[in-house]
Amino acid sequence: MTIRVFEDTEQLASAAAEAILDTVKANPYSLLCFATGNSPVRTYQLLTENAFRENIDFTRCRCIGLDEWVQVPRTNSGTCYHLLREQLFIPLGIKESQILLFDGMAQDLEQECSKMNSFIQAQSGVDCIVVGIGTNGHIGFNEPGVDMNLQAHVQDLHESTVKAGAHYFSQPTVISRGITLGMTQVLGARKLLLLANGKSKAAILRASLQGIPTRKVPASFIQQADHAMVLIDKEAASELYQ
Ligand code: PGA
Repeated sequence: MTIRVFEDTEQLASAAAEAILDTVKANPYSLLCFATGNSPVRTYQLLTENAFRENIDFTRCRCIGLDEWVQVPRTNSGTCYHLLREQLFIPLGIKESQILLFDGMAQDLEQECSKMNSFIQAQSGVDCIVVGIGTNGHIGFNEPGVDMNLQAHVQDLHESTVKAGAHYFSQPTVISRGITLGMTQVLGARKLLLLANGKSKAAILRASLQGIPTRKVPASFIQQADHAMVLIDKEAASELYQ
């Protein structure tokens, strides 16, 4: 794991966007996995701007989503489906045929998980994954206590995730479960970018990056991932030991 601390969100986002672009430049057929949330918003803006400016071809890559709310229709603007389309897929010109996202409204969620697992396997794993971190240490919806060996699965949401999740919706939306890639897939990605900014992430970053790895803090296992890059701003890094 490498930790890089940036002066501000702008510099952080710029480095993250460059790391994603490098993946596609090195292998145009890359499998990319994207999280939603506040942390990667500026990264995605810079990614689309820079891809356009540098004329980087995204037509051959494949894209998947890290997670999705269960039982929230795709028309809801707070879904990962909606956000990834708006922030990335439309601006980058990525076609439907290149994308696989969890359908949180599917009757058979187990089948959704199997579909995602098979897709990842068929592409020989994820080339680059972009994730954030919850204040409870989750990555995706791998909530505290999760089995680290799971692949895609459905998870009951932690109280703090439900509370934080409410901010992503412009209308009152009931959320209680999520469908998510498992930690084995997150940590198994060939390039793992964890993005975090702001004071609210300082304590959990200290526990995750400098505490003993424990299932109670799923993100703490990132310490064991050699290829992981943790990109954080000064405020998020403010509780790390020197
Ligand atoms: P955030 O969410 O990027 O909106 O802070 C991160 C997360 O909960 O995984």
